[in-house]
Amino acid sequence: MITTLENYNLLHSNTFRLNINCARWISYTSESDLYDISEKLDRHNFFSIGEGSNILFTGDYSGTILHSEILDMEMSIDANGDMFIIAGAGLKMDDIVYHTCLAGRWGMENLSHIPGEVGASVVQNVGAYGTEIKDLVDEVRCFDLQDNKFVTLKNKDCRFSYRNSLFKEQKGRYIVTKVKYKFAKEREANLEYGNLKDHLRDADSLTPMLVRDTIIAIRDEKLPRVEEIGSAGSFFKNPIISKKELENIQKIMGFENVRQIPHYEINHNEIKIPAAWLIDKCGFKGKRFGNVSVWEKQPLVIVNLTGKATPEEIIDVENKIIKEVVDKFGITLSPEVEHI
Ligand code: EPU
Repeated sequence: MITTLENYNLLHSNTFRLNINCARWISYTSESDLYDISEKLDRHNFFSIGEGSNILFTGDYSGTILHSEILDMEMSIDANGDMFIIAGAGLKMDDIVYHTCLAGRWGMENLSHIPGEVGASVVQNVGAYGTEIKDLVDEVRCFDLQDNKFVTLKNKDCRFSYRNSLFKEQKGRYIVTKVKYKFAKEREANLEYGNLKDHLRDADSLTPMLVRDTIIAIRDEKLPRVEEIGSAGSFFKNPIISKKELENIQKIMGFENVRQIPHYEINHNEIKIPAAWLIDKCGFKGKRFGNVSVWEKQPLVIVNLTGKATPEEIIDVENKIIKEVVDKFGITLSPEVEHI
């Protein structure tokens, strides 16, 4: 079933809770609806939305927004004992995570409480605590607007990388309709990130549900709940810098050793550094700018503190942060949040 609404208000369709409109909103409940939708769609002025949890609307949107309400889910186990789930793009990602933990299967628990829907989560290759959705994806089914047909892409064809994928690279070409996840029987817990192990030190027996509850407690301590305060989670990506840039930061901070800077070596000359740390060192933590604020417990998150923020106010804070970080460290942050 296709539902079309003109001049649709997006207040409840973006987690920043910006009060803006789009010219047309089209939701659909089955894959076959996309044949009809694609016939009439202006290919140059549309995009697909999930929960709107990684989006910053820069103003009213003049085109069409498509929203999948494909909500079916199938779970199965094959002869090897591997579990598979096929989930509709419109389902909430965290519902899938919860069900897999309930089934006692390892794999998704570290992604607990990430806002967003199944379709969008593969576009962005969401990740947290050392797990990315690409680690679980077996296949992605989508409608290819270029060839007007459905295609099923294997994991390796999706070109997943840090917060990126084929679907993002070729924006506007694919509409994700279903995702098939694989939970291999022999999969184990992944507790390598940060101090996750410490949090679970006293546990008698480790279960996916226990790790989920622990992750939720860690997130609740640091991140604002989107149900309570508008935000889009991490606003910036963690930048990849060179060894020389890392040594430069050491000099700027007057540190004796680069070990005093939190960082993670990807390879010899590619180092990931937390944007949160750079922003923190520029003194932004908890700073308020009118209706907008930099979250006091995690400065990577910009929040709509009063619920009355405008897109311009958020962009203003974004630019202030980028400028300060580049002035102080010579590193240009790029947003993780998609600007529409
Ligand atoms: N830090 C500070 N000051 C702070 C907070 C953090 O200096 O106030 C430094 C610390 O050194 C800390 C480091 O930043 O060790 C990294 O912080 P954290 O481990 O909390 O995670 P992150 O790198 O800031 C990423 C993801 C999050 C995800 C967490 C946990 C990105 C852009 N963000 O954040 O994803 O939840 O790791 O895995 O990769 C999201 O995408 O919306 C999101 C929340």
